[in-house]
Amino acid sequence: MSTRLAPWCTGPYATALRAGRGPLFLRRPDGWVLPLEVERWCGRADSADLSVLRWCRGPVLDIGCGPGRLVVALSTLGRPALGIDSSPAAVARTRRDGGAALERSVFDPLPGEGRWRSALLLDGNIGIGGDPSALLARVGELLAPGGMLLVEAAPAEVEERFEVRLDDGLGGSGPAFPWARVGTGALRACAEAGGWRVVREWRCYERPFLCLRLSHEPRVLRVRNTHTATPAVMDSASTRLRG
Ligand SMILES: C[S@@+](CC[C@H](N)C(=O)[O-])C[C@H]1O[C@@H](n2cnc3c(N)ncnc32)[C@H](O)[C@@H]1O
Repeated sequence: MSTRLAPWCTGPYATALRAGRGPLFLRRPDGWVLPLEVERWCGRADSADLSVLRWCRGPVLDIGCGPGRLVVALSTLGRPALGIDSSPAAVARTRRDGGAALERSVFDPLPGEGRWRSALLLDGNIGIGGDPSALLARVGELLAPGGMLLVEAAPAEVEERFEVRLDDGLGGSGPAFPWARVGTGALRACAEAGGWRVVREWRCYERPFLCLRLSHEPRVLRVRNTHTATPAVMDSASTRLRG
């Protein structure tokens, strides 16, 4: 999909970000609407956001950074952080506020692939592309071995994939695109099926978060024949199996 033609690039989303406020909705063909929290996204990181950022380690990639409050908060804390977003208005706003950001889709080639120590998928961004398993697999390619993904689930126990449009509630709407919503249980199941381990789970102001780590390292390192393994090999393997 061309980044330029992507649904978040122009129309109601760009207008809302430039104004710093909604109304803005995701609207399904059956009339169901999900209000989007543009004002919160355009504000400063709040205590729920900070409850996530405290677990970040090393360079942080914020996927679908929007107007950039998380990238800006990390930079203010002296933490290296890059936002990526397919929306030029989002990238412009992140940079205006002092954050580093690139206009890219998460599915495009990205700098530092395989070297990011932490990645963020917040504010419903697990829905990007409409296929959470595919998105988690892509994030797995971006992270360094042992890297962490901090991801926000939907507040209700849902598991939904559908087509939506961005809609300003005043007659303006953009093209249809695939989106997904997953609650904590569905997200945990989807992550574990993709080889991720849930290392932490919490809620802050009704927002549920999970901290995930790819768990393929222990499978690769399992020592089959302990009789021939030297003590040093066994020690390092068992340490990694526990970690
Ligand atoms: C639900 S909004 C979340 C906004 C954001 N987390 C914030 O703090 O404002 C989804 C964001 O993901 C971006 N996005 C959508 N598809 C994307 C993709 N394939 N790659 C990167 N960003 C994408 C949108 O432009 C939008 O800024």
